[in-house]
Amino acid sequence: MLKDTIKKRRSVRKYKEKEIDREVLENLLMYASMGPSNGNSHPVEFIVVDDKDEIQKLSEMNSFATMYLAGAPVIVIVIANTDICKTWVEESSIAASYLQLLCEEEGLSTCWINLVEGKTQDKTSYEEYFKEEFGVKAPYRASCLIPIGYKKMGTKDHEEFDVSSKIHYNKF
Ligand SMILES: Cc1cc2nc3c(=O)[nH]c(=O)nc-3n(C[C@H](O)[C@H](O)[C@H](O)COP(=O)(O)O)c2cc1C
Repeated sequence: MLKDTIKKRRSVRKYKEKEIDREVLENLLMYASMGPSNGNSHPVEFIVVDDKDEIQKLSEMNSFATMYLAGAPVIVIVIANTDICKTWVEESSIAASYLQLLCEEEGLSTCWINLVEGKTQDKTSYEEYFKEEFGVKAPYRASCLIPIGYKKMGTKDHEEFDVSSKIHYNKF
């Protein structure tokens, strides 16, 4: 049930040394691409990084936000064609969120690292970095990284809570 998957999904930063089947991942990426998109434009694509040296490179990109990435068996770079859709950040976020839930349902864990803005530890913009290191050139932009793997330790599920203070009927 979707509600159970949403409760179970937690950000995981330590993964087992267990590979992810490419066919399984490609199937999840296909489903992650089925979300709504502006004018049915579907601007989102994925770079699947499963080469250990490339994963190590990504982990060194920003010491604070990315250091734990070295242990992930796969990192998906979510990219989008910014020419065909102005709302590429929204479409990327929809695809990334779907992917996180699909992974959870498949027994895989994920996290999210935002790339729309920000810099590497040597102050290169993420835009420049992904162009130089991964060939993501205009009109494409990288929007986030989703590391994927089998979690090393258990996680605590989200719990239902009283949402009434966040809901406003008719006016704020
Ligand atoms: C836009 C965005 C950026 C995030 N950036 C990072 C990040 O740089 N490093 C990290 O470890 N987690 C990052 N996260 C994960 C959040 O820390 C995490 O979702 C939050 O603490 C809630 O925990 P949960 O995902 O287990 O519910 C990010 C999440 C989002 C949505």
